[in-house]
Amino acid sequence: MTLSFWTRRKSIDAIAAGHDGHQLKKTLSWPHLVALGVGAIVGTGIYTLTGIGAGLAGPGVILSFVIAGLICICAALCYAELSTLIPASGSAYTYSYVAMGEPVAWFVGWSLILEYTLVCAAVAVGWSAHAAGLFRMAGVPEALLAGPHMGGLVNLPAVFISFAVAGLLALGTRESATVNMVLVFVKIIALAVFVVLCLPAFDASHFTPFMPQGFATVNADGVKVGVMAAASLIFFAFYGFDAVSTAAEETKNPKRDLTIGIVGSMAICTAIYMVVAAVSIGASRTEIFSKSEAPLVFILESLNHPRTAQLVALAAVIALPTVILAFMYGQSRIFFVMARDGLLPKTLARVNPKTGTPVLLTILTGALSAVLSGWLSLKDIAELANAGTLAAFIAVGLSVIILRIKDPGRPRVFSTPLWPLVASGEIFGCLYLFYNLPTKTQVYFLYAHLIGVAVYVLFGLRNSALGRATKAV
Ligand code: ALA
Repeated sequence: MTLSFWTRRKSIDAIAAGHDGHQLKKTLSWPHLVALGVGAIVGTGIYTLTGIGAGLAGPGVILSFVIAGLICICAALCYAELSTLIPASGSAYTYSYVAMGEPVAWFVGWSLILEYTLVCAAVAVGWSAHAAGLFRMAGVPEALLAGPHMGGLVNLPAVFISFAVAGLLALGTRESATVNMVLVFVKIIALAVFVVLCLPAFDASHFTPFMPQGFATVNADGVKVGVMAAASLIFFAFYGFDAVSTAAEETKNPKRDLTIGIVGSMAICTAIYMVVAAVSIGASRTEIFSKSEAPLVFILESLNHPRTAQLVALAAVIALPTVILAFMYGQSRIFFVMARDGLLPKTLARVNPKTGTPVLLTILTGALSAVLSGWLSLKDIAELANAGTLAAFIAVGLSVIILRIKDPGRPRVFSTPLWPLVASGEIFGCLYLFYNLPTKTQVYFLYAHLIGVAVYVLFGLRNSALGRATKAV
């Protein structure tokens, strides 16, 4: 067998010239993208994982937020440069195809499929933690409100929301994006109300001891704890801006809209998180609220605001689906582009002429998310999602460096400031976060990629559109 597949690379000019037939409708502009970004970023991470993170790091979780946030800002800047340089669907997968060739692109695409599907599942579990009360009131038995790891049979609310969002998305991009904008607003208002009500109870003494479990420690049970373990988990709260870049082909003015969409949504969310995390710690001790599956709601209840606590829970119930929406959207687009490139079966990527969306694929993604969220734990799912995202972010940092060196003269609408520093900050930061993930997660990630290699060898290698074109020449 020839090793020519290593050299299969897409060219930016060919991408810019457009694709044959399989085009997505151009229906989005920057307000949709900022909403899509904020909708994808603010979710289970801040509403639920803040508690688990505080359990790992104590008040030092605020430092975990700063570390994860800084790494993600580097990533957002690199994404903004690449998504405007290569305004095509596929996000990190497409950038890697251009910069590093097909096998690396496959690895990144497979990581993204892993990431996006797992994020949908993780957020569905976080949603279920806030919605369980409503399902209980409707008469759903306890055994159907939690997965086997919590002593239940299946997490039915999580299964329900996975399918509900897939259905909405299958109806068409434009409608979903507009609904998304309203829900993003609800989510932000709820966090603002939380902050205002917690501020009077702020007690600076809650910040000591600051790092009860150290910075990067392995405890007596062999479990990674401390600020970095929490940062590796909390990282989940920050990403989502990358989902914006998957919408490149559907934006009316990709260069302007994507830059505002990615950098703007990231900046807004980082500011919100810092405030919410600091206020949570000030209002309640980390060892107390870290036990709750819905820590913000718990803190409000403990401060004697039961009504508002219910409203915040309701806001999470109404608005967390926006995160699933954005990631399901991103997932179906990544799959679509990979199928168009011949690396995955094309029949799955067929676009419905009425809605302009790949309906079959959207439903399949929903089903996969339903299965994962129905039976697995939030922490496990979120950490595996992080592993996939970290792999994609590392590839994006590498792509920025490679393209700057190989193609320095190409005009860049958005240039990453101090690019060598920012891109290497992204790469090494992500490697360090990956290193601090639980060993179990790293092993699962490896298994997932062994399956990925098998799929590539059995299908993609032979069916690659670029490979066929090269052969024909
Ligand atoms: N950042 C997203 C969330 O926290 C994935 O839910």
